[in-house]
Parts: sequence; C-alpha cells; structure tokens
Amino acid sequence: MTKPAHSPTLVVCRDDQHASETVAKMFADLIRTQADAVLGLATGGTPVPAYRELVRMHREEALDFSDVVSFNLDEYVGLAPDHPQSFRYFMQEHLFDHINIAPANTHVPDGLSNDSDEHGRGYEKKIAEAGGIELQLLGIGHNGHIAFNEPGSPVDSRTRVVDLAEDTVQANARFFESIEQVPRQGITMGIGTILESRRIVLLATGSGKAEAVQRAIEGPSEPSHPASLLQQHPSVTFVIDDAAASHLA
Ligand code: PGA
Repeated sequence: MTKPAHSPTLVVCRDDQHASETVAKMFADLIRTQADAVLGLATGGTPVPAYRELVRMHREEALDFSDVVSFNLDEYVGLAPDHPQSFRYFMQEHLFDHINIAPANTHVPDGLSNDSDEHGRGYEKKIAEAGGIELQLLGIGHNGHIAFNEPGSPVDSRTRVVDLAEDTVQANARFFESIEQVPRQGITMGIGTILESRRIVLLATGSGKAEAVQRAIEGPSEPSHPASLLQQHPSVTFVIDDAAASHLA
C-alpha cells in the first residue's frame, strides 16, 4: 500500500467541549479571514457541540456566514430532506436555521436522486466551481470510516452511492426508532473528493473512538481503515479529547 507521506497535526483536548470549541474556532478563524470560504461539513453525534459553538459565535460575536458556501459529506439514500433523520434535516436543525448562511449556498447530497451517478458528478462539479473546499470537517466511525466511505473504499473514490457497513447501521440505529428503519445505503463524497480539500480537520471524542483514532494515525495507510488514508494529505489536524487519545503511543 502507498507509504504514508505525512503525519497529521494532533491536538489533544481535555474533554469533548474543549475539542468542539477548538474545531469551531478553526472554522470561525477561516470565515473571519475569508468571508466567502467554502466549508466541508459533517453530521453525526460528534459535531453537535461544535455547531452549537458556531451558532453562539454568530449570535454573540457577529460571526458572519452571509457569503459562506458549504458542502456536506453525505446523505442517506431514500430519506427526503424533511425526514427528521436525514442529514439535510440535521444541518438545518443544528446549524443552518440558526445562522445567516444563504440557503442556496448550502449543499447536501440528494438522497432521493433517481440518477445517483449523474447527481454525484454534479455534486463534484459544484464543489469545483465553488473553488474547492477550504476546510473539511470529518468524524470517524468505529470501523475507521470517514463520511460513508466504509472499509475497502478506494483512495481515489468519488461521490457515489455505497452500501453501509453493518457496524455503521448499528451505530446509527440510536437515532432511529428501530434498526429496521436505518437506511442501508448512503450517497457520499469519496476519499478522493475529501483528499482534494485544502485542509482537513477530524474531530473525535470519547473512548469509543480511541482504537479507530490510533489506527488512523499510527497504523498503515490502507483502505481497510479509511481514515488512515488521510496520512496521504499534507494538511490534516486531528482534534481529539483525552479519551479518544487514550490508545495512542
Ligand atoms: P458519530 O459518527 O459522530 O455519530 O460518532 C461519526 C461518524 O460515523 O463519522
């Protein structure tokens, strides 16, 4: 497998609140220096406190999102934007409805597209036309997935429909009434798409992520652990709390 060319920058914080504030500040600093910055955004339980902090900065410190553009990583296939577990709904609820971002500037893949290949190509084209993603936020799955790029995802993969790993379905069942309701497919930016972002920040909190973080940073860079492929990008920062750092050497 490709030799890792880069070591990520590691920022270890004492708890998840501090880690979340650190990530929110990275985004705020970018927006303050570049008002029309293109942000890559993520969903899941982990980024919720970081979005809460960005909303606070908008309200109390006049952080201005009016020219900001955003692209989300992924969406469930089969869920409409107004489905409470869709990632579009999540973004509205946790961030977009509480800041002054222009709705037309926010992009989330369409989980209902009839032609997902065409939709994926169009999504990539929109990112390129916007000038590329300046700062991409990522979480990490227990199995090392980034976005819905499950183990085995090629390093040059692009936005496409994928089958979710059983581990992912189980991990996300907590957001649904029953595991049967969890969609089995997602549409996701590829690893290649993510690696084209100019800067990447991966936020991981809690001991449940410690092993996945350790493999991502210290393990070989290979598709069996997708987050380890970030070693091939020159500007990645892992912002993690003590618990998520507990397996690092
Ligand atoms: P979580 O998901 O933040 O809900 O743990 C992260 C991920 O699967 O990328």
